[in-house]
Amino acid sequence: MKSCVTIVLGLQWGDEGKGKILDVMAAEADWVLRAQGGNNAGHTVEIGKEKYVLHLVPSGILRSDVSCLIAGGAVVDPAGLVKEIEGLTKRKIRTRGRLHLAAQAHLVLPHHRAVDQGSEKRRGHGKIGTTGRGIGPAYSDKATRVGLRAGELALAPAELARRLRERVAAHNRVARNQGWEKISATQTVREMAQAARFLRPYLADGVTLAHRAVSSGKRILIEGAQGTFLDVDHGTYPFVTSSHCTAGGACTGTGVPPTAIQRVVGVLKAYTTRVGGGPFVTEDGTLGHLLHGMGREFGSTTGRARRCGWFDAVLVRRAVQLNGVTEMAITNLDGLDGLEKIPVCVGYRLKGRILSEPPVESSDWARCKPVYRVFDGWCEPTTEARHWKDLPRKARIYLSAITELVGAPLGIISVGAGREQTFRHG
Ligand code: GDP
Ligand code: IMO
Ligand code: MG
Repeated sequence: MKSCVTIVLGLQWGDEGKGKILDVMAAEADWVLRAQGGNNAGHTVEIGKEKYVLHLVPSGILRSDVSCLIAGGAVVDPAGLVKEIEGLTKRKIRTRGRLHLAAQAHLVLPHHRAVDQGSEKRRGHGKIGTTGRGIGPAYSDKATRVGLRAGELALAPAELARRLRERVAAHNRVARNQGWEKISATQTVREMAQAARFLRPYLADGVTLAHRAVSSGKRILIEGAQGTFLDVDHGTYPFVTSSHCTAGGACTGTGVPPTAIQRVVGVLKAYTTRVGGGPFVTEDGTLGHLLHGMGREFGSTTGRARRCGWFDAVLVRRAVQLNGVTEMAITNLDGLDGLEKIPVCVGYRLKGRILSEPPVESSDWARCKPVYRVFDGWCEPTTEARHWKDLPRKARIYLSAITELVGAPLGIISVGAGREQTFRHG
């Protein structure tokens, strides 16, 4: 039976509005699989007056007939996941029988957070600006093959405790020298035993579940977290996260093979934002001031003000190539509604040369100056638009131009946080 598998991922530095687009697309899905990342993510979905911020649980959970899997490529903070599930239950969102946690997913433990936060402190001005959730150290333990996986939560309590004590002892042996906080093994064991009891019913073999869904012809969305330029291979290294946020990572993380994928929907903002350190060629304080003044662009996970800038076509063109984007979903068009002039970056100037591709080194990237093409603003609200033809002519010109510059077709347009403020191009 032919299934339909769609990857939905971010084309910039995260927070593109993936949660909102996934929620809209989940109206026509059977499964949503979260491929990678951890509770560094914050995916916002607004339904009427209700606002949900999901960190680990796939955005499909808000549609009662959709099943969800946190796949093996993700890293899971057990206590964080318990809290998130409890929060959903309080709001009458059912998770039992609908939400599954892959036994293959690695665990984020309290000592990972201590390493993350201690290392950032030590980096001082050169810090990455991580979310402090222990994501890098958890992936690092996975790569060095000492990590614990979610499936181990089902072990006999004494064996789980033994493994946890071993990891905490290894951490504490080097903690003082490294400037990391020491961790209590007893507290870790207690916290994990509690979380294990709660999470056991959710555990499953993630790969078997995903393949059953594929082979029985289900409509599947693979939910990416973070964004293309936070990918550990393809992002602005070292100012990146520690997982693969690109389309390849969606396949590795879920175990769904590339040959099963039909569509890749790239989500992007009509401008650019990033949280944390690292190069940002089109960053513009005045635009940031304007958007923050409207109460927008504060991080969903940490509450930090996001850095803001103009649309960067050099960046998104590369993201379209890297992910094999078949269609784009542009969000936050309404953020530009009040502007008379809207610059779009069409090239980078570096050492007297004009680049149409981003440089390899972050230090070069940070030295690039934007080459702008300036568009006329439309200076009227777009938030009530429900069809392409409802948009002001200048907004259509802007969207058509950036679509052409980045080389992928425009599929979905979003003009507000609500479900209803979304429509298809054409
Ligand atoms: P994600 O991490 O990619 O899911 O994005 P976040 O949820 O972290 O950040 C996107 C923010 O933009 C959230 O507050 C959304 O509610 C909001 N949002 C999404 N699309 C639109 C839009 O078209 N217009 C407006 N005004 N807000 C939007
Ligand atoms: P969603 O899924 C935006 C950023 C952090 C930091 C860098 C590394 O909501 O789009 P980490 O804690 O992962 O080691 O931090 O990555 N970052 C995000 N920025 N959206 C996210 O997720 C992010 N997840 C991590 O700010 O710069
Ligand atoms: Mg976010």
